[in-house]
Amino acid sequence: MIDFRSDTTTRPTRAMRDAIANAEVGDEQEREDPTVNELERRAAAFLGQEEAVFLPTATMANQIALRILSEPGDELLAEETSHVLLYEQGGPAVFSGLVMRGLPGHRGRIAPEQIRGAVRRYTATHMPRTRVVSIENTHNSSGGRVWTLAEIDAVAETARELDLRVHLDGARIVNAATALGVPTAEIGRRVDVVTLCLSKGLGCPLGALVAGSAELMATARRAKHLFGGAMRQAGIVAAAGLYALDHHVERIADDHARARRLAEALAAAGLAVDLEQVETNFVQIDVGSLALTADEALARLAAEGVRLSDTIHPTILRALTHLDVDDDAIDRAAELIPRALGVPIRADP
Ligand SMILES: Cc1ncc(COP(=O)(O)O)c(C=O)c1O
Repeated sequence: MIDFRSDTTTRPTRAMRDAIANAEVGDEQEREDPTVNELERRAAAFLGQEEAVFLPTATMANQIALRILSEPGDELLAEETSHVLLYEQGGPAVFSGLVMRGLPGHRGRIAPEQIRGAVRRYTATHMPRTRVVSIENTHNSSGGRVWTLAEIDAVAETARELDLRVHLDGARIVNAATALGVPTAEIGRRVDVVTLCLSKGLGCPLGALVAGSAELMATARRAKHLFGGAMRQAGIVAAAGLYALDHHVERIADDHARARRLAEALAAAGLAVDLEQVETNFVQIDVGSLALTADEALARLAAEGVRLSDTIHPTILRALTHLDVDDDAIDRAAELIPRALGVPIRADP
């Protein structure tokens, strides 16, 4: 089975497991775990921020980021299909008392004028105070699309002018940096708080970080405890993160090249693949013109030994490349996917 459902499906490599087995550990809650401490130090520099806090998941990292940037009753602005709005069970409302407001995006991006138009004049005592703008790079629902540095700057400058804070959901920030050809810190340093997921393109079994100023991270450490995320001998997981920062960052470019190769092969075979969308490790296939529902298409693909996943767009499937998909898998998938989808199912006349 070739598994393209998500870049979260990777399993730790032998070498990563060795790093895990050999990790020095201590009580993380007491900040006595040397491996966690080292990962936090490395991740802060990697993300262009002063400090970082190690967490179990990217969802918790997002939730803590929003919590420390706001007060209950404040308003959060984000692109309407962003992960924090659509896929975290209303967490910003539940955990931080935020009013969640989605803005229509273009390829996952929102423009400064939209923020200017949406911001509420909180001098009016009866209105929620617009406080946080959350952006996502790369943006998942739009197919791994990339915010450029100029686009981030434009939004961040507008936010500062309006006294808003900027959170960057950087679950796939390494993919964005790779696509832009810049160090990850160049993206991360542009915002108030940024997150990093270790269990997507970086190939760790779990783990994430939230990063920002020392002052904000002191609050994040308190929130980590409150959210139940303060751990004990977590160095066994942090060791995987350190290994990934050393060995799995540069190889992300291979995932992008493989996604492009797969996309081009599928498009050449006649499938509806928008090559312009393929900026990172996502390939999207529109099965609408094949008279197949997404579920039917997924079932046919699985029967041929290829797993894709559905998206919020009813006829669009996605394939993500990652550490466990090599060149040979791409070659095989380039044959299997068109074969599985190639015969349109038509209703009997
Ligand atoms: C953009 C983005 N942010 C955050 C997350 C949350 O990651 P996790 O489910 O590992 O907590 C995801 C997961 O898919 C994501 O795509």
